[in-house]
Amino acid sequence: MQAAILAIDQGTTSSRAIVFDKSGAIISTAQQEFAQMFPEDGWVEHDPETIWSGVVSVCKAAICDAIRKGYLPSCIGITNQRETTIVWERDTGKAIYNAIVWQDRRTDAICRELKDARPGIEAIVSAKTGLLIDPYFSATKIAWILDRVEGSRQRAERGELLAGTVDSFLIWRLTEGRNHVTDATNASRTNIFNIHDNIWDDELLDLFQVPAKVLPQVQDCASDFGTCHLFEEVMASAGDDARKSLPICGVAGDQQAALIGQACFKPGMVKSTYGTGCFMVLNTGSTPVRSSQNLLTTIGYRINGETCYALEGSIFIAGAAVQWLRDRMQLLGSSAESKTLAEQVGEKNDVVMVPAFTGMGAPYWNARTRGAVYGITRNTGAAEMVAAGLRSVVYQTCDLWEAIGSEENAPDLRNAILRVDGGMSANDWFLQFLADMLDADIERPEITETTALGAAYLAGLQSGLYASLEEISEKWSRNACFQSKMAPKQRNRYLKRWAAAVNATILFAEQTA
Ligand code: G3P
Repeated sequence: MQAAILAIDQGTTSSRAIVFDKSGAIISTAQQEFAQMFPEDGWVEHDPETIWSGVVSVCKAAICDAIRKGYLPSCIGITNQRETTIVWERDTGKAIYNAIVWQDRRTDAICRELKDARPGIEAIVSAKTGLLIDPYFSATKIAWILDRVEGSRQRAERGELLAGTVDSFLIWRLTEGRNHVTDATNASRTNIFNIHDNIWDDELLDLFQVPAKVLPQVQDCASDFGTCHLFEEVMASAGDDARKSLPICGVAGDQQAALIGQACFKPGMVKSTYGTGCFMVLNTGSTPVRSSQNLLTTIGYRINGETCYALEGSIFIAGAAVQWLRDRMQLLGSSAESKTLAEQVGEKNDVVMVPAFTGMGAPYWNARTRGAVYGITRNTGAAEMVAAGLRSVVYQTCDLWEAIGSEENAPDLRNAILRVDGGMSANDWFLQFLADMLDADIERPEITETTALGAAYLAGLQSGLYASLEEISEKWSRNACFQSKMAPKQRNRYLKRWAAAVNATILFAEQTA
C-alpha cells in the first residue's frame, strides 16, 4: 500500500473527504451536501448530527476507495467552515442547539449594543483579535446559545458544556471525547482570541460573556490533535498488518487551509477562494498588519510555534449567488451552466446584482443590507440575471483588491498575481471577467481542491511525509493564467454602476431598518 493522507473538508454546504497521495494528487473523494436552515430572516443554521453523520460516511467511502486503489491513509487533516459555532454536552457529545453558521446575523443587535455601550471598544477588540465586532464571528454566537437555551449558562459554568468551531466538534467526536482542541487559525476567528499573545483573552471573554471553561485548547496547525479509532473496520480491509488508527495531525480553517494549499508562503502572495463566500487572503509574514480599510488581520498559519499573519477580505456570498440562481430562481439546471448563459450576454447589458442576502462583509460590514437587482428591462432574462450574479462576485473581489491594495503597511499588490480556487474557479468566463476588472493576472492551479489539499499538507508535515513548507511549495503547478483584455473606459463604467448599486442598497437598508 502506498502512503496517503485523508483530508476532511467540512464546508458550509457539503462535507467532503479526499484522500491525497504524497505528490498531492487526488486518489479518492466522497462528498455529501446537507440542508441549510433559515429559521428567520438573516438566520442560518446547520444540524450538527447531519454534519457528523455526513463526515463519517464520506470518510469511510474515501478510505475504502483509496484502499481499493492501493493507497492507505496514515493520518488525518481537517479543514472547516470557520466561525460556525456549536455548543455540546461533555458527557454525551450532543449539541444543545443547532450550529449557528458564520453567515448568521442574529447577533447583530448584541454587537451594536456592545459598541454603543462602550465607545472605543471595537478598537480594543480589533487591536487584540484583528477582527471587528460583528455577528460573523463566534463569540456572540456562543453567548447567544448560552443565553437562549435554558439552564445552559449554569451548565457551562459547572463544566458540563463545551463550545467551539466545527473543527473542535469534529475532533471531539473523532477522538470519542478525549480531545477538546482547536488550531490557531480557527481560534483567530472567534473575537476572543488574542492573535499577538496566542491566548484566549480574559478581557474579551468578559466582554462577550463567554466562560473560559467551555473553550478548546489552541494548538499549532501541524500538531497532535488526538487519535481516531472510528475507521478501524474500514482500514482493516487493507490487511491485518495495516495500521488501523489515524492520528489527526493537521487542522486549519478553510480559508487558511486554501492559503497553504495554494502555497502562498511568502509575504505578498495572495489567493482568493470562491466557495459559498469569497475570501481573499494576503500573506503578510511574521507581522500582523492592522487594517485601515476594514479588512481583517488574521492568523494565516502557526507552525512550530511561529505565527504567519495574513490580511483577509471576506465576502459572504459568492458561490451562494449561483446556488440561489439555480435552486431558488431556477434559472440554471446546474452551476456549470452559468458559464454558457453568461457568454450570451454582451458588454452593454449590465444588470447589476448586489447579493447582500446575509448582509455585506468587507469592506462595508453592514449586517442589515439585503440583496437587490438594478437595471432590469423587458429584455432581461435568465442569461442577464446569471451574468449579473457572476459579475457581482467579481465586483466584490474588486472591492477587496482595492482595499488590500491601499493598505499602507501591507505588501504591495501592484505586480501581484492572484491565485484562485474553489468551485467558481472552474468557470473560465468568470475568471476572464475577474482578470479584466482587476487588471491583474489570475492563476488557477492544477488542483483546485486547495482547501482539502492544505489540510492534507499540514497533516503530512506533522507526520513526516513532508520535510518543510519549501517542499510543499514546489508541488504547486499552474493550470491556466487569465490576463486583462478590457479597455479602462469599460472597466470604469462597470465599477461606477457597481458603486452606485451598493450605495443605494445600503441606503435602502438603513432607511427601512
Ligand atoms: O468564514 C467562512 C468560511 O470559512 C466559509 O467558507 O468555503 O464555505 O465559503 P466557504
